[in-house]
Amino acid sequence: MQKIKQIIKSEKNKFASHELFNNMKNEDFPVEKRLLFLPSIAPFAMMFSDLNKYILPYSSPKDKYEEAINAHAAEDASHWPMFINDIQVLNLNSKQRFNSTLQYLWSDEIRESRKVCYELIPLFRKDSATLRYITIESLEATGRVFFETLYVITKNFHLPIQYCGEVHLALESGYTMGAQEDVFDDVEITDEIKEEALLIIDKIFDIFTKWMDEIDRNLNVILSN
Ligand SMILES: [Fe+2]
Repeated sequence: MQKIKQIIKSEKNKFASHELFNNMKNEDFPVEKRLLFLPSIAPFAMMFSDLNKYILPYSSPKDKYEEAINAHAAEDASHWPMFINDIQVLNLNSKQRFNSTLQYLWSDEIRESRKVCYELIPLFRKDSATLRYITIESLEATGRVFFETLYVITKNFHLPIQYCGEVHLALESGYTMGAQEDVFDDVEITDEIKEEALLIIDKIFDIFTKWMDEIDRNLNVILSN
């Protein structure tokens, strides 16, 4: 498993050089303005909870590995209220008509924020708990880069944010299976598992990079207005 984790780490380092993270840290603009892209990530922020409730967990976990996946899923299913909180405190809770909100959430402009969820479904449904674990570790590596950037730009912020701030980052860092005693550390990676794991890691970084491209496009539009 350590070799797999090394591969994820080197992919994470590449991912961290995405232009979006520089743009988010661009102090030429007030932080409130740099956070105006937040509504665009609503599909993922909200659907990720459903994925963790209805797709990722095993209905009858049969060993400590499947139980670890379920415990992790239960934690991640509970993060969406922090997103709702930030939309409220950042004054992004506009009085837009419901139809307009629906059209925005299902628009092409933010399609990657939805597609990333659908693409996770087959990976979250793999029989093997080890493969589900590798999926989670990979997506959390991307999440760490994103949430650390949000934390850095908001750490001296005057508003009680949660999703974009320390509260969420601490939960993400504290609860990754890698940060605690990790039951998967000693799992033997067979050639067959390794082959599939490499495909999964590639897939995760690919879909999350496409999503970061989209956020970056939208953020550039916001910053140029
Ligand atoms: Fe989270």
